[in-house]
Amino acid sequence: MKAKIFLGSPRKGGNTEILAEEVAAGLREAGTEVEVIRLAGYKINPCIACGGCEKTGCCVVQDDMQAMYPRIDDADRLILVSPIYFYGVTAQLKAFIDRSQAMWSRKYLLKKRLPSSVPRIGCLVSAAATKGEKVFDGAVLTVQYALDAMDFQFGGSLLVKGVDRKGEVRNMDAELERARRFGRELAEK
Ligand SMILES: Cc1cc2nc3c(=O)[nH]c(=O)nc-3n(C[C@H](O)[C@H](O)[C@H](O)COP(=O)(O)O)c2cc1C
Repeated sequence: MKAKIFLGSPRKGGNTEILAEEVAAGLREAGTEVEVIRLAGYKINPCIACGGCEKTGCCVVQDDMQAMYPRIDDADRLILVSPIYFYGVTAQLKAFIDRSQAMWSRKYLLKKRLPSSVPRIGCLVSAAATKGEKVFDGAVLTVQYALDAMDFQFGGSLLVKGVDRKGEVRNMDAELERARRFGRELAEK
């Protein structure tokens, strides 16, 4: 089984990256091949709503997103990772998500589904500085809808509140263990 992890934070060594590393370790323990992709290292432009994907299911904008589509299609598990920025995901992840409109067109306009021997399951990993009840609501809704467009079932979220300083979550053993277990369980779903 193959998993792709897309990191949405621009901060290297930050909280969501640390959580994602633990999820990756859990997935690998369960025998999954894992690739981690840092979106901030690529040039992914926003969707320009040109409608070019509506006839083919393919995006016409030629940038680094073109290298992401085959990776998404190849995945049995897709993990979208982002800190909360203003109650949503980061701009890096949002651009990636908006460009999945091509996959939405493929699924819903062209009625093309991906053949798969195992259920394709995706999830969200996120962290936020504050502890508000609704702090993850926007990101969860965005990611649920994006995963559906990418033809994945939603398999849940790993959400950690109250972490702000870079790398702070590294000292939170219970959260790290929870993340690793989340990865193992995601592989076994
Ligand atoms: C531009 C920006 C916007 C943010 N907005 C929020 C927010 O709306 N709510 C919140 O709880 N934390 C917010 N934060 C804090 C981050 O979510 C928090 O620091 C998180 O741990 C960063 O994860 P990272 O280290 O993986 O980048 C924001 C941080 C930045 C830089």
